[in-house]
Amino acid sequence: MKQMELDVNVDIYDNFSSEYIKVRLTEGALFNEHIESPVVRDFIKDIKSFKRVNVLDVGCGPGVYTKSFYKMGANVVAIDPSETMIDAARKYCGVSSGHGTYNIDFKPVKLMDYHNDRDFYLVLATFMLGYFDDLRSSFKKMEEMLGRSGRIVTSSLHPERLFAVSKNDTGYLSGDNNRNKKYEADFLGKDAVIHLNKYSFEQIFDAASDAGLKVTKMKEPLLPADYNYHDKLKVDFYSRNHSIAVFELKRKSKK
Ligand SMILES: C[S@@+](CC[C@H](N)C(=O)[O-])C[C@H]1O[C@@H](n2cnc3c(N)ncnc32)[C@H](O)[C@@H]1O
Repeated sequence: MKQMELDVNVDIYDNFSSEYIKVRLTEGALFNEHIESPVVRDFIKDIKSFKRVNVLDVGCGPGVYTKSFYKMGANVVAIDPSETMIDAARKYCGVSSGHGTYNIDFKPVKLMDYHNDRDFYLVLATFMLGYFDDLRSSFKKMEEMLGRSGRIVTSSLHPERLFAVSKNDTGYLSGDNNRNKKYEADFLGKDAVIHLNKYSFEQIFDAASDAGLKVTKMKEPLLPADYNYHDKLKVDFYSRNHSIAVFELKRKSKK
């Protein structure tokens, strides 16, 4: 079958999301559940010590973190432009129709088109940086929605992974991967490649700073070499190579 090239600006997730949702919700996704999630969960665990704090889940996808926030007692707004993802998240969180019933407000909208009616103590955007064409504006939009002591937690594929030398068609290593501004993501299936933005640490830190933010924490998780996961080759690789970067950002100065 001819490979289809998809535009991330239309709702590709509406057409190619079922496998992603299945893998994500059965905790089988190595990157998500085993490498990224332990760090993200550590960064957000304080939410359970507050009553009904406002949290925004940007690009909620199937709702894994949305549900965690709800269980921790937060008031959650979950946004995603894909209706399919919102439906899956609703089901996963046990919210059948409408919104608000379980202190989760689902909105089928992109970050830049979302109009907030409240400030947030936490804005979460996991596996999202590659979707933002203008990183500075996206950080600024999130910054403007933060309450006084609010913060952003976000994650991305690790720049080391995105900018590493790649094999060219003849199988030889090619050292010019730095020139490409986008990378091909095929996690929705081999027939559904999407082109996402590649950002270096310098670009991420500069965009955050331009948006009035500073990076207050950053982790580059590796798997322990003896990690209990069925695919031992992958464990070996990801215990030696970075795949994920997780950031916490706060305002540089008080509002
Ligand atoms: C890789 S998934 C991540 C899902 C979820 N955050 C997680 O960690 O499981 C990316 C999600 O972002 C959504 N998305 C893409 N562009 C977006 C945008 N501009 N604003 C908000 N969500 C967006 C997609 O529809 C998709 O559900």
